[in-house]
Order: sequence, then structure tokens, then C-alpha cells
Amino acid sequence: SLPVPYRLTVLGTGYLGATHAACMADLGFEVLGLDVDAAKIERLKAGELPIHEPGLEEVLRRNLASGRLRFTTSYEEAAAFGDVHFVCVGTPQKKGEYAADVSYLDAVVESLAPHLDRECLVVGKSTVPVGTAQRLADKLVRLAPAGSQVELAWNPEFLREGFAVHDTLHPDRIVLGVASERAEKVMRDVYEPLGEVPIVVTDYATSELVKTAANAFLATKISFINAMAEVCEASHADVKQLSLALSFDERIGGKFLNAGLGFGGGCLPKDIRAFMARAGELGADQALTFLREVDAINMRRRARMVDLARELAGGSFHGCTVCVLGAAFKPNSDDIRDSPALDVAVTIGRQGGRVTVYDPVALDNARRAHPELAYGESALDAARGANVVLMLTEWPEFVTLDPEELGSVVETRKIVDGRNALDPMSWRAAAWTYRALGRP
Ligand code: UGA
Repeated sequence: SLPVPYRLTVLGTGYLGATHAACMADLGFEVLGLDVDAAKIERLKAGELPIHEPGLEEVLRRNLASGRLRFTTSYEEAAAFGDVHFVCVGTPQKKGEYAADVSYLDAVVESLAPHLDRECLVVGKSTVPVGTAQRLADKLVRLAPAGSQVELAWNPEFLREGFAVHDTLHPDRIVLGVASERAEKVMRDVYEPLGEVPIVVTDYATSELVKTAANAFLATKISFINAMAEVCEASHADVKQLSLALSFDERIGGKFLNAGLGFGGGCLPKDIRAFMARAGELGADQALTFLREVDAINMRRRARMVDLARELAGGSFHGCTVCVLGAAFKPNSDDIRDSPALDVAVTIGRQGGRVTVYDPVALDNARRAHPELAYGESALDAARGANVVLMLTEWPEFVTLDPEELGSVVETRKIVDGRNALDPMSWRAAAWTYRALGRP
């Protein structure tokens, strides 16, 4: 059996990996983080996070200082060091198709396995098409000199960006897909410092599916309320009050029931698409045709936002200045992957509008990805001279904007609240034309 306390490696230092490495070190483990991106490793060694994640940099720095957390680019070193290897690489959507690209996972296994010459556990945390774990388990045993001494476990991660440290240290549940009691015991030991957390022990396939099902459910819940918003728009009803009234039914609950511009980010959109693609391969595509609708409802919200903005602009964006508040896919993040806000900004730009974007932390990422747009240094700066203001990511500093102050810099007082986060009364009281999605 493995020497206690286990030494951990974390392979891949993106969102998930950087958080997992720092938090496991914080729990008292010796942790070695690995990435093939040498520049990223240099930054992490210096205590600098490549991403914006509240509270994570402190955890990173104090564990670098304690010596429990180190970083490397060497698989040989990682293999020699680790008893438990966490695989935390991304599985993005393939270009031009729905399926997930799992090649980074295969690359990790192919780089690590040839160095594994003693007993160890490799633990997959990435979100994958069901069936991936079994395939990787076979590959590991085939490529590792230690053969069946090397085992795989699957342990999906449910953290939210913006709350990554909290979610890692206080998970709702832990799901363990294991093929042996030995692997289960190691995993239970690893998470023992987290205290009382419900643990579901299951097979590989079920553990992979739990993650995909959870994200599909969340996406469905958001699209459900956005579908209600469409009906509200057609019937002059108010989706915000509808959602509030639904939320008091505990079976429904109010979380993920905010109507607005819909979901984006690196997870929900690509996960439901990859899920449909995988179900198709398995001959179960009929079971998930509703996710096509979930996706379509979500994308229609972006089109509706562009239409509303154009309507406020007087029927055309030509000669019109549009201020977009928000570039990140959600607040407390600098992540612009599949950001609904940026998608809307780019579309309006293509339709002839002069678009100026502002975001408290995602500005640099947005600038790099969309140099064709203009950027402001603050909300007021971006709104100067605007004919229409679109609030598309509900950062606290946008929610607390003073309608009078913003009104003093714009050309015309017209705003669309893309997240149903502003108080319509106070904006209308300040003589703004206030419009929102799903509200009269
Ligand atoms: C999501 C899941 O919530 C996590 O549990 C999961 O671990 C993660 O994906 C992942 O697979 O790694 P995340 O992408 O960080 O987390 O973002 P969410 O908080 O889920 O928000 C997703 C999108 O939905 C955002 O664009 C947000 O603005 C939108 N949203 C959320 C709504 O439009 N309405 C809501 O009521 C809630």
C-alpha cells in the first residue's frame, strides 16, 4: 500500500488544477503541480495566478511559502514524487463539432505512464464523455512499467468559477468512480481532511455521468426560466416576479432561476453539446434531444438582446454608439470563454454599431480576443456619448451604478438590463428608458 501521508501531483494548472493544487496543499499535503506551459509554471512559482479567482492567490502564496506546494514541467519528476496523481486538464469543444476534445487527457496519460514504476493512483477530475475513464485506465496499465500497480479513479469536480476555493474546500458531495476497494480507500484518505461530506462511491461510467448530468440540469434550469421569459415578453408578464414566486416551492428552488442573457463560459455550453454528441455515439441520442432545445433557447436570448438594442437605437446600429457593461461570462471572473456579453458586443459591432466595452477584470482578455472593439477604462468612460447602454454581466459595481451619474455622460438615457439585476424604478425615475429581458 501507499506510504502515508500521500504525496500528490496535480497535472494541468488551469482553473481546476491551480485551485486543486493550492487547496490540497492548504489541507496539509505536499503537492507538486505540473503544466507543459513553462511560462505558466514560472508565474505560479512566483505566486502569480494566470486567472482571476477571488481568494486563490492568497492560498497559492501561503503554500508556496510553507514549501508544501511546488511546480514543475517535468513528468519524470512528477512520477517520481507522486502517490496520487490528479489529472486536471481541459476538455474543450472540438472545432466545428459538438464533441469534446479529450486529447489533452490522452497526452497526460501518455507522458506520465511510461515513468510510473511503482504503485500509485491516477485520478481523473476533468469533465469527460462517458467511457473515457475505462479507456484511459486500460491505456495506463498498458503503458506503465508498474502495470496493474497503477490504478485509475474518476473524481469529477463541481467547483464554480468565482467560488473555486470555497467549493473545493466545502464541496456539496464527493463522487468517486473506482474499480477497487484499494482505490476507494486512498480517495477517502485524501479527502478525509475535508470533514463530513457526503461521498457517493460508484463505477467509472456513473461518476463521469454525474458531472455531465449536473451541468445539463443546471443549463436546463436556466433555459427553462429563459423560455418563460420569452412567453412573458409575448404576454406582457414579468419573469422576475414569476421566478420569485416559483422559488418558494422548495422542490423548484430559486437558484439558477435568473432569467436574462443566458449561460456561457467554458463549461455549461460545451458540456451539453459534448453530452449530446456522446449520447449519439452510444445510440441514445433521443434521450437528449431536449438539450438541443436548451441550447437553442439559450442562444435566442443573445439574438433577442441584439434586437432590443437595435430597437432602442432606432432600428439600425449605423451611427449609433453602444456601451456594453461586462465582458466576462459571469461576475467575479475574468473568463471570456463563450461569454454572452462579448458575443452580443461583437454582433452589434458587425451590424455597424460603435461598441465600447468595459469590464472590471476581463478587459485585457477581451482586448486580446476582440481587438476590433473599443474599450473604456471605467463604466462611465465606456458610457460617454452612448446612445444605448447594455448591462450584460452583473458585476456588483454595475448593479450599484447611480442612474443620474451615468445619465450625465451618455448621449441618450436608454439601458437594457441583460441580467435582470437593476432596479427598474430608480432608472425610470432618473428618466431612463429601461428595458429588460422577459419584463414589461
Ligand atoms: C458551472 C457549474 O455551475 C459548476 O458546478 C461546474 O463545476 C462548472 O460549470 C464546471 O463544469 O466546471 P461555472 O461555469 O463556473 O460553473 O458557472 P455558473 O455559475 O454555473 O454560471 C454559468 C452561466 O450561467 C453564467 O454565464 C451565468 O451568468 C449563467 N446563469 C447562471 C444564468 O444565466 N442564470 C442563472 O440563474 C444562473
